Amino acid sequence: MRSSQSVNSSISANGYINDEITFLAPCPKLCNVPTVIVMVGLPARGKTFIARKLTHYLNWIGYKTKVFNLGEYRRKNFGATKPPSFYHPDNKEAVASRLKCCALALEDMTEFLKSGSGEVAVFDATNTTRARRKFIYDHCDKNGHKVFFIESCLENPEIEMQNITEVKVGCPDYKDMNAEDAIKDFKARIENYRLAYQPLSVDYDRKLSFIKIMNVGEQYQINKVEGFVQSKSVYYLMNMNIIPRTIYLVRHGETEYNQENRIGGDPQLSDRGVQFAEKLAEFMSGENIPELKVWTSQLRRTVQSAEYVSAAVSNVVTEKWKALNEIDAGICDELTYNEIKEKFPEEYKARSESKFYYRYPRGESYEDLVNRLEPVIMELERKRDILVICHQGVMRCLLAYFLDHELTALPWLEVPLHTVFKLSPTAYGCKEEKFTFGVDAVSTHHIPSIESSENLQTDLD
Ligand code: ATP
Ligand code: F6P
Repeated sequence: MRSSQSVNSSISANGYINDEITFLAPCPKLCNVPTVIVMVGLPARGKTFIARKLTHYLNWIGYKTKVFNLGEYRRKNFGATKPPSFYHPDNKEAVASRLKCCALALEDMTEFLKSGSGEVAVFDATNTTRARRKFIYDHCDKNGHKVFFIESCLENPEIEMQNITEVKVGCPDYKDMNAEDAIKDFKARIENYRLAYQPLSVDYDRKLSFIKIMNVGEQYQINKVEGFVQSKSVYYLMNMNIIPRTIYLVRHGETEYNQENRIGGDPQLSDRGVQFAEKLAEFMSGENIPELKVWTSQLRRTVQSAEYVSAAVSNVVTEKWKALNEIDAGICDELTYNEIKEKFPEEYKARSESKFYYRYPRGESYEDLVNRLEPVIMELERKRDILVICHQGVMRCLLAYFLDHELTALPWLEVPLHTVFKLSPTAYGCKEEKFTFGVDAVSTHHIPSIESSENLQTDLD
């Protein structure tokens, strides 16, 4: 069991977390045998993109996952600016240098998996030869790690060029080179890798577990998938796409319950909540999205907020998702935080100490909420532009997925009412913009006050 966060420290650099919060919950380990996910493919095939997205997802569903990118080891040990000849299979000295980087990264990876803090490692490199894959496999086998290969194949020069210009030209390898020369150099690098490329094959590699992704998901080939991590990864990879799109996340307009600091229930919007819904509609109208989808929960406050958007924007398709309903507070539903503290002091304290894992009696935990939201995430990955009108707890879970926040920090993310979060996925992450429209709302971000917090801190010291 791992202890999750330190005391009195700010969790993220961007100020999401209140400094006074303590996270004492142990993070349960989800798997006994660590898994190594090995990327395979020529350069500019989206391996790093896939590795990072999959890592976000696995962390979000609770598997402690980390990417080991061999490019970083190469730059650190042998310098960033290497000519295409460095990647030629006949360049024995360079082949040895690259293998050395691989061995170093494997050692770090195994330390991560054996230290108790890691469950899945994503080994992000080209790994284009059978000899290299055997070297990795043998290392993993010796150390008791399961291995799953993900190969990205691309026979589409336009997408290849798009990938090179989008991410390679600006990467540290080419920081002192102009774009035209960088593109030429990178293409030469790809051709040198191609000379020795041995794709995974269902005949030769039939004993290995792998998925081959052809032309950004036009086709897949899947072999010998074993266990939960691998099948979840396959499920996720089959839902991924790279079409540019925007996801708007927003909470419903303020309600009467919000004004009373009361949680849950199915209240109506307050007057200010209605004003915000009108402003939201204006804003979405100005975004000029041809076929906007609007998802709400099944609760009145989100449905009511969406009605203003549907009235103002043409061709809106609205869907109600039960999965988007707010966290179920069970016996605490419709109480204020002060009432919870008075009536159920033990529950109040338990939740303050371990907010992610704490489950309300006859209700849900944030961990439950993440599980409930998984189908929503899969659909969001498949769809184009969407406005999701949801709730504080739900929005924290969705934001944590897109912005890669730690699970233990997730329940403390600041998600104010009357604020639109506009997320635009980029090559390796997500651009985040926030919009407010000058309609006031109460703050519903509750910082627990528990007298025992000092004792809790002492326990940790
Ligand atoms: P290198 O070996 O040089 O590190 P790479 O294979 O890791 O290259 P990335 O850096 O991940 O390539 O390339 C990122 C680009 O790949 C992004 O622009 C992204 O849109 C695109 N991409 C994502 N998924 C795929 C895919 N399945 N096939 C091809 N391109 C993809
Ligand atoms: O207060 C608004 C609300 O959406 C409640 O309905 C819900 O119980 C709560 O926020 C979730 O936030 P927290 O987990 O911080 O109590």
